[in-house]
Amino acid sequence: MSQIGRTREQERLIEMYRRKARHFDVASRLYPAPGYPLRAQRLRAVRALGLRAGDRVIDIACGTGVNFPLIEQVIGPDGRIVGVDLTDAMLAQAQDRVATNGWRNISLVHADAVDFDYPTGVDAILSTYALSQVPECAEVIAHGAAALSGGGRWVVLDLKVPGNTPGWLAQLGTSIVRPFASIDEWLMRRPWEAIRGAMQEELVDLSWTELMFGTAFLAAGSRSP
Ligand SMILES: C[S@@+](CC[C@H](N)C(=O)[O-])C[C@H]1O[C@@H](n2cnc3c(N)ncnc32)[C@H](O)[C@@H]1O
Repeated sequence: MSQIGRTREQERLIEMYRRKARHFDVASRLYPAPGYPLRAQRLRAVRALGLRAGDRVIDIACGTGVNFPLIEQVIGPDGRIVGVDLTDAMLAQAQDRVATNGWRNISLVHADAVDFDYPTGVDAILSTYALSQVPECAEVIAHGAAALSGGGRWVVLDLKVPGNTPGWLAQLGTSIVRPFASIDEWLMRRPWEAIRGAMQEELVDLSWTELMFGTAFLAAGSRSP
């Protein structure tokens, strides 16, 4: 792992995901409430990548690799996925998924997203339900944008607190994220704003879509050709 000296907050986050890793897939399917359309949102995010057979895709903070089958379906055996994550136990689950499915075109990298050394000529970068947990999310967007080939896509799907909404909806937003992050730090930092700002700065044709009453967002942009 390239990172030297983690913060206490990062250690806490890694410990939390180590505890969750084994049951992450099932638990996250039921969260925040049965029926919250995580899978539909994921499918939408993968569609927004505009993938084609043979594409090279980076999944930032890939966790257990829930996005991998959706990406594999489109890129096929000639494509390539690199999954990056900070938590060893989440990557171990991702590795099991890769082995079970017999995928030979996926590599996993144990690294902090902000330190990840991108290969060149990347066709698409995806990050789902994770980037808002990375304090340096704007830097991650910038590094990724620099690695994209012309026309390459950067797509972020994540949770947020709804703006100008009744209290019960704001509460739903915060309850969604509570098990995944330090909620107070997250609320104060308002990372979705930094992500939007960085994407606006680094990419062209940015689209920003609020999902489920503003409790999630899908942001997508392209590297200028
Ligand atoms: C809620 S999980 C989402 C995993 C996956 N993207 C998904 O959609 O199922 C968040 C993931 O972000 C990872 N993560 C958090 N901070 C990170 C960082 N700074 N660099 C890389 N991964 C990070 C965690 O280890 C965890 O696997």
